[in-house]
Amino acid sequence: MNRRQFLACTAASVLLPATAGAATAFRLKAGPVTARILPESEGLTPMLGFNGSSPGPELRFRQGDRVSVAFENGSGRRSAIHWHGIHIDNAMDGVPELTQAAVEPGATFDYAFDVPYPGTYWYHAHHRSWEQVARGLYGPLIVEEADPPAVDRDITVVLDDWRLERSGALHESFGNRHDFSHAGRMGNYARALFSTDAVRRGDRVRLRLINAATARMFPVRIAGGDGKAVAHDGMPLAEPAPIEELFLAPAQRTDVILDVAEPVSFALRTRDGFFPLGTIAVSGSNPAPIDGPVAPLSAPAIPTPDARAATRHILVMQGGAMGGRHGGSDFWAFNDRSGMTDAPWRRFARGETARIALRNDTAFPHGIHLHGHHFHEIGEDGSLGHYRDTTLVDARQSRDILCVFDNPGKWLLHCHTLAHQASGMKTWVEVA
Ligand code: C2O
Ligand code: CU
Repeated sequence: MNRRQFLACTAASVLLPATAGAATAFRLKAGPVTARILPESEGLTPMLGFNGSSPGPELRFRQGDRVSVAFENGSGRRSAIHWHGIHIDNAMDGVPELTQAAVEPGATFDYAFDVPYPGTYWYHAHHRSWEQVARGLYGPLIVEEADPPAVDRDITVVLDDWRLERSGALHESFGNRHDFSHAGRMGNYARALFSTDAVRRGDRVRLRLINAATARMFPVRIAGGDGKAVAHDGMPLAEPAPIEELFLAPAQRTDVILDVAEPVSFALRTRDGFFPLGTIAVSGSNPAPIDGPVAPLSAPAIPTPDARAATRHILVMQGGAMGGRHGGSDFWAFNDRSGMTDAPWRRFARGETARIALRNDTAFPHGIHLHGHHFHEIGEDGSLGHYRDTTLVDARQSRDILCVFDNPGKWLLHCHTLAHQASGMKTWVEVA
């Protein structure tokens, strides 16, 4: 991607659809929408969305709620919704052929589940996701803390890219083999979408970044104030961390708490320099700024696993362009198998702690996502690192993760570069 392939970015910010506030029941109707992705002077983009927009409406729940979402499938194709990052009841996980049948066009499926942990999550189509998510079938899902941090504004920031024709229409090159075997479907236009267009100077704001792209990694710089990262993939950091540059692989989220000094702008680092993704304007100033250091978010009561008791496993990522030979039947493979198998890759006893070495033998980075759980990244020195649901493993690198498999059911484990998932880099585990 070079800068000339990006169209110019306008100053006007694009707003996410307004939300109704926290509730326990929502209705999500998938269907055709017309989105304003390009600047005002350019064409509109016919897409798919929920309740008339893409991204779909932000669903806001409260920690511990029992919630229900009625999914009406007006998309004209089979689909299902996955609630990314939620430690969910397996039957509600939204994976066709593994946890439910795909929802037929015109049919409805009632999702009902608990949201045990607060944080920043998202929902997205999980049938032909490489196409349906790229067409716009996703939205933010926020679970509010029982004791939220003191901030003036809580702002959702969706990062995405789109591959557009000159007219503004989505490029219909879905599923092409070059994308599948290389880095996935990269857009030629990228931006940040915000749930609010202005803040006051002196406000302390919470920014909930979500990378909703099907393939693009987002190295992002935030300017306009002093910010600290406070959570990754919904889970609090023990200590707020300084942010020089954030890096979000597809599906990853980071929460930042920032004291606003000037307009808050987001820029994507590319090989050709920084590309502006969007700016939240400043209007007025806060007469009574919140001061004092940013405190850690309150951590949910999740016991720290014992690494010494862990069973050991190795998952090797293979294939892709320049990736050499492997025993799988598609572009990509895990341990010489491409895609779903009748038997799970592993069966874990409920409560089992497992240490999995994720070894990337390919020429591309992969953000590996486990359904229904979070896991600890393990540092080089064996220390327990971030607690996440999606971990980035760079080309030719390896990372160990430690997971307590305490959620019974059948869970996908896959690359969240959705073209890779579609062409082999996907398997599943069973917890019983
Ligand atoms: Cu966010 Cu299996 O997906
Ligand atoms: Cu991948």
